[in-house]
Amino acid sequence: MKIDTICVLGGTGFVGNHLVARLIAGGRQVKVITRHLQRHRDLLVLPGVQLIEGDIHDPATLKRHFRGCDAVVNLVGILNEKGHNGSGFRRAHVDLARHVVEACRATGIARLLHMSALNADSGTGTSLYLRTKGEAENLVRTHAPDTRVTVFRPSVIFGPGDGFLNRFAGLLRISPILPLACPGARFAPVYVGDVVDRFVNSLEDRATFGQRYDLCGPRVYTLMELVRYTARTIGVRRVIIGLPDWASALQATIFEYLPGKPFSLDNYRSLQRDSVCPGGGTCPTALETIAPQYLGRRDREARIQHLRTLAGRTEPDGQGFSG
Ligand SMILES: NC(=O)c1ccc[n+]([C@@H]2O[C@H](COP(=O)([O-])OP(=O)(O)OC[C@H]3O[C@@H](n4cnc5c(N)ncnc54)[C@H](OP(=O)(O)O)[C@@H]3O)[C@@H](O)[C@H]2O)c1
Repeated sequence: MKIDTICVLGGTGFVGNHLVARLIAGGRQVKVITRHLQRHRDLLVLPGVQLIEGDIHDPATLKRHFRGCDAVVNLVGILNEKGHNGSGFRRAHVDLARHVVEACRATGIARLLHMSALNADSGTGTSLYLRTKGEAENLVRTHAPDTRVTVFRPSVIFGPGDGFLNRFAGLLRISPILPLACPGARFAPVYVGDVVDRFVNSLEDRATFGQRYDLCGPRVYTLMELVRYTARTIGVRRVIIGLPDWASALQATIFEYLPGKPFSLDNYRSLQRDSVCPGGGTCPTALETIAPQYLGRRDREARIQHLRTLAGRTEPDGQGFSG
């Protein structure tokens, strides 16, 4: 199976930027469908990227843009929905997955890579994020008989442009005291470069067809350890107060109604389960070898520099990301 042209949904996001750059560097053609073309024009620094504005929730749009592609990658995901009843999660995860599978079938696309999340589980999880991610996983695995599907389930992902360590770095820079919800939640942070390696290497690899992979970095940390590490790395001394469970739930209840939902009850629920791989790390890159290269820098600057480097437009700047 030869794959030259790939349509990436969610290609404008954090993982998407890294994946698209890697695919282009490997000589592939990439189509990215976005809701906001102007906002994501940075991606056009990559030669060979086709950035298309469109509504991916519209089945006809999907079919139109899937035509002529050899594979589809679905990276779309949301950590919070606008409302509170689960319909936003269902639309972004389950309904979209169904439309993607149907459009693949209608256009004869035989290869689909689907991004899920560690602990995604349609049955037992109380978090709607994890439940709908689990439903979407089941859907693509069972309803795509003619399509070779591979599913990836990462723990939290770090790297230039991430929304996790960068977010804590931003909070730590402006606030002398940080009340931290769920400080004991455990993660095995996985490097975005390792994640995109797994996607790219699996594209034409028959052994990965029909498989599902948990992706974890080599070490497990509590959230408190990660936030303390971030503070040390950006060179600030801060008081970080780990909240007990009742106060974490209270913070989530209040923040749920703040603009932009900085923390939600659904986030709180998903943090009740450790985001670690049962069999240990599956990806090699240690957080400590990468995070200091980008945490000290302005996020957008780091991301664009990374894209340029991958596109071969500049030499690595000595802080070279291995991604
Ligand atoms: N980052 C992590 O730590 C992590 C960990 C585990 C799993 N994952 C999963 O990995 C995937 C990528 O994560 P990411 O961090 O790269 O996410 P991200 O930066 O938030 O990007 C998500 C992308 O999805 C698109 N999107 C978001 N909401 C949408 C909606 N309602 N309708 C249509 N498109 C929408 C956006 O595209 P446009 O705005 O251009 O339309 C955006 O490019 C997600 O599925 C996520 O659940 C991420």
